[in-house]
Formats: sequence, structure tokens, C-alpha cells
Amino acid sequence: MAVALKLLKQLRPPQTTSTILHRNLSPRLSSIRSVTRVFSDAPLLNEPLPASPPLNPHSPSPSSLNQYELAKFASIAETWWDSEGPFKPLHLLNSTRLAFIRSTLCRHFGRDPLSPRPFEGLKFIDVGCGGGIVSEPLARMGATVTGVDAVEKNIMIARVHADLDPVTSRIEYQYTTAEKLVEEQKNFDAVFALEVIEHVADPAEFCKSLSALTVTGGATVISTINRSMRAYATAIFAAEYILQWLPKGTHQWSSFLTPEELALILERASISVQEMAGFEYNPLSGRWSLSDDVSVNFIAYGTKTITSNL
Ligand SMILES: C[S@@+](CC[C@H](N)C(=O)[O-])C[C@H]1O[C@@H](n2cnc3c(N)ncnc32)[C@H](O)[C@@H]1O
Repeated sequence: MAVALKLLKQLRPPQTTSTILHRNLSPRLSSIRSVTRVFSDAPLLNEPLPASPPLNPHSPSPSSLNQYELAKFASIAETWWDSEGPFKPLHLLNSTRLAFIRSTLCRHFGRDPLSPRPFEGLKFIDVGCGGGIVSEPLARMGATVTGVDAVEKNIMIARVHADLDPVTSRIEYQYTTAEKLVEEQKNFDAVFALEVIEHVADPAEFCKSLSALTVTGGATVISTINRSMRAYATAIFAAEYILQWLPKGTHQWSSFLTPEELALILERASISVQEMAGFEYNPLSGRWSLSDDVSVNFIAYGTKTITSNL
């Protein structure tokens, strides 16, 4: 506890994050063009580094890969579908994330949000799909889904689980990365990277790859955690050390992006952020809901503005 309190004291003052739920963000961007990411004052967690995954001659090697992060996910891959396991927070968050996706993308693609399969005929990719807890519902909503992950074990687990249902068995899972797919000139109507960007080596390059995978006029959806004091207190200190929802060391505070930083790097990658929402946890009901408070967990939806020459 004393160590944790010391870490909390090292934190700089909280970011000022305004309420930007369902608001056009373009005017905000002009005031944040000089935002840079500052790591030097971030708290450090003295967690032992997990062993790197064994080198695989076929393994992807692009710039977004952070081997330390991938080793953490590989070590708990078999727990993806255990709703009481290390991925419990994602399972709890899932229906709220999907509500945001359904509402924004139905508007984007002119689909009926009340339809059981509103995304019929659209090609989606779930980058960093893990065990497929987002890919599967997207497929049930009618989309033709590709799920990719940089951890081979995740893809194996996702494949086995998806094969349990004829609808999800059509998902195409691949052990690869966004960068590799860009090289292969693949593109999609909508690109998702949910809770992934905080685990990649180079968020700006990663966003460029997401953009290159998105067709012009298509949609990109990213969710992550804000680099705020509140996020340190709740998403790391409480979730990892007090409630032990997540293994200690799951998140590095310094790897989080503020909503303004995310909007800026997306804009530089030709993705114009249209809407953002926060996720709010109610400890009494144990449920998440969409909120205009983006100070901890948040999700952004943007549109690909011009053809990228990345
Ligand atoms: C916190 S999990 C999120 C999983 C899933 N998107 C979800 O929200 O349920 C992060 C996932 O991203 C994957 N990952 C991390 N870096 C990656 C990269 N550069 N390219 C592809 N996948 C990556 C990890 O292996 C892990 O499965």
C-alpha cells in the first residue's frame, strides 16, 4: 500500500478532459496541435518482465509490436473466454462497447440500428482481436469479419471458440498484424482496435496502419484508457492491486493516451474523429454504461477522410 501511495504521489496533476460525447471534435483539434506525449514523469511499476515468446520464423515483425506486452497476453491466452478470469473487465465492458459501435456505425453506414444484422455486406477487421470477444458479436451483427492478433495462441483460442457456432465460424482469423495487411494492400469498411493501442510500441505508426486499412469514407473505432490521474487510481491501482481484476503489470500508465492525443494522431493519419464517449463503471450494479466522462476508459469513432499514401 505504501509503495502504491508513493506512486500515486509521483503523478502529475490530472489531465483536463472535457465532455465530448457525441460531439464533432474538429474545432477542438486546432487548440491541441502542439500536444506531445510526456513519459518522463510517469510512474513505474517494478514488475518482472515476462519471458519473451519464442522466436517464430513466421512471426510478424512490424514496428507496432511490443514483445513485453505480447508475452503478457500469450501467458494468459487460454483464459480469454473465462468470464471470471483476467479478461473479466473486457467481458463486462463488451455490451457497452458494442452499443457504441452499433449506434455510431449504423449512422455512418445508413443502417437500421434495430435490425438484428445491421452490418450485412460490410467488411470489418478487428485488429488485436484476442480471443474474439468483439469479432464474434460483430459477425452476429452480419459483418464479414477478419480478426487478427500478434499472439498466435490468441488466434488459436479464437478459432476454436468461433467454430462452436456456424455464424461465427465464418470469421477469418489470422496470426498477423495491421502492418502486414497494409503491405498486402487489404482494406475494410470498418477497422476496430479495441483496448490495443495502449499495448503497441508506436501508437502513431499503428494509427497510420489502421488508417491505411480503412477504405476512404470508411470508419475506424479505437478504445483505450486516458493517461489521467483518475485512470491510474482506478484502471491500475484499484483494478490490478486492490480488486485484482487484472494481473499486476497489465497496464503501463505511461502508455496511455489522452483523448486529445488520440484525436491528434488519428487526424495526422487521415482519420477525422467524429464522436467519443467514456465508459462509466457502477460498482453497485457491477455494470458499465456510456457516459460523457472520458477521464478513464473511452472510445472514439472516426472516418477516413482521404486516400492515404502510407
Ligand atoms: C487488451 S487485449 C484486447 C483484445 C480485444 N481487442 C478486446 O478488446 O476484447 C489486447 C490485444 O492486442 C493484441 N496486440 C497487442 N499488440 C498488437 C499489435 N501490434 N498488433 C496486433 N495485435 C496486438 C494482444 O495480443 C491482445 O490480444
